[in-house]
Amino acid sequence: MHVTFSKERNVLVNKKIAILGGGSGIGLGIARECLLEGAEVLICARNRAKLETIVEETGSDKLHCLDWDISDVKGISSKLEAALAIMKDIDVFFNCAGVSDYAGSHAYTEEMYDYIVDINTKGLFFLCLAEGEYLQKRNKGGKIINITSACGDIPGFDPYTISKWGANCMTKGLARRLISDRIIVNGIAPGEVPTNITAHLQSHINDNNQFTPLHGSGRFTMVKEVAKLAVYLASDDSNNIVGEIIKIDGLSIPPD
Ligand SMILES: NC(=O)c1ccc[n+]([C@@H]2O[C@H](COP(=O)([O-])OP(=O)(O)OC[C@H]3O[C@@H](n4cnc5c(N)ncnc54)[C@H](OP(=O)(O)O)[C@@H]3O)[C@@H](O)[C@H]2O)c1
Repeated sequence: MHVTFSKERNVLVNKKIAILGGGSGIGLGIARECLLEGAEVLICARNRAKLETIVEETGSDKLHCLDWDISDVKGISSKLEAALAIMKDIDVFFNCAGVSDYAGSHAYTEEMYDYIVDINTKGLFFLCLAEGEYLQKRNKGGKIINITSACGDIPGFDPYTISKWGANCMTKGLARRLISDRIIVNGIAPGEVPTNITAHLQSHINDNNQFTPLHGSGRFTMVKEVAKLAVYLASDDSNNIVGEIIKIDGLSIPPD
């Protein structure tokens, strides 16, 4: 994989941004757009070698990485300290780390349920808690932006959908808890985006035909579209948007 970052703009100059789940897909797309807008960025995920390759290939002194498994709840405070040792300060957290059960199987097991919920819901909860406490302590506001999912308000009987209802719920709840400290919390709820998570749906993907029957618009949401919205939410332009879950899904068509 070769990742290039070019021409810097300026909407996020002087912002320090941590992206949990920044090693691929939506998180990496957000990292790319944040760098282009002048931010200093830390990407975190479990696969350290992959993160290091991205940083090396990018060649930007504003991009850093840290291996961090968000399902390790006991490790969150020491990983946050490690992140701050690299960044010195963090203004915006993007919580993108997530996994799905979309391998085409409906044979749900307790192991699969725990794996998904431990990351997408429990891990996210304790991460949000630690990020909120950090931003409260530094006492100059800040932002937490969770990547949830368009399925997070559509009834479903599978661990992923359940995990994303939890993610939407805690995003709105956290926003209420933190706004009096000038900490702004929002969510982005993408529909189907061509990344690792939706590999099984991508047989129609090419430059001109992004067909998916799952969206009213008839096409996938692209990583860049999510990343542009993410930049807006991270920027000061959106400072009075609080506690929203913004869908970017071409109007999801709920399954029967
Ligand atoms: N693609 C879609 O259609 C879609 C739609 C709605 C919502 N979303 C959500 O968007 C987020 C990003 O997913 P994606 O589509 O970009 O898929 P992706 O390419 O698989 O990215 C997921 C990222 O999360 C990291 N990650 C997974 N588990 C982690 C953990 N325990 N601790 C830290 N990092 C972890 C992965 O890296 P490592 O494996 O190295 O840890 C990777 O960097 C997820 O929350 C997903 O649920 C995706």
